Amino acid sequence: MDRPDVWVPERYARHADFVPALGDAILRQLNPQPGERVLDIGCGDGVLTAALVARGATVIGVDASAAMVEAARARGLQVVHADAQRLPTTAPFDVPFDAVFSNAALHWMPDADSVLASVARVLRPGGRFVAELGALGNVAAIATALRAVLGIRGRAPTFPWYFPAPDIYADRMRRAGLEVDDVTVFPRPTPLPTDMDGWLETFAGSILAQVPEKERGPVSTETVALLRPALCDERGRWVADYVRLRVAAHRPR
Ligand code: BEZ
Repeated sequence: MDRPDVWVPERYARHADFVPALGDAILRQLNPQPGERVLDIGCGDGVLTAALVARGATVIGVDASAAMVEAARARGLQVVHADAQRLPTTAPFDVPFDAVFSNAALHWMPDADSVLASVARVLRPGGRFVAELGALGNVAAIATALRAVLGIRGRAPTFPWYFPAPDIYADRMRRAGLEVDDVTVFPRPTPLPTDMDGWLETFAGSILAQVPEKERGPVSTETVALLRPALCDERGRWVADYVRLRVAAHRPR
């Protein structure tokens, strides 16, 4: 992988346990059947992948983080360490899948066209693609506060996220050769299990890693202070301003 691995499974489990928990709806939408061969793109530590396996599917996970792959394999899951923007064509990706699934991962892959081309390639004719990712406007307050704090310091790091508008993502799916069945956008204010410091530590690590180490603490502190009036209630409970894009498509027969 070309980027440093900023994922720490223990930290993720503590600050982001809502990610797999809230993936239950999309899992139900996929409705995996026993014996189906499913690809889970960006499987992370494998909590949802294991839920797919528990439904009787044969699941291959793929993730770009070596640490997450190790955590998922520790659950006994079959996981390939690879970037889905450059999905290999070799085994196990040379045998068609009945379905491709992804929860809260595709927004980490700005080259959406490559990902979707691989989705279309690995699906059998009639095979389905069900995914949820951040939509345009996702974590807008958080990203804007972080950009403002960094900008005041003369820093302009690259943000790794791609939050597409629904029509643009639908066009991309069609161009990849998929037939679009459903595209839905909805706000999902998400209570955080810990706080905004924990969120930034867990999810903005690759942004903070681009500024000198001595600035990271102050940048986080100032960002949290800027966000507190908007995203934290008087009891200290934080909510992240998530907006979800849920898509369903299939490869034409
Ligand atoms: C998301 O799931 O929407 C998300 C997670 C981390 C960073 C940005 C967005």
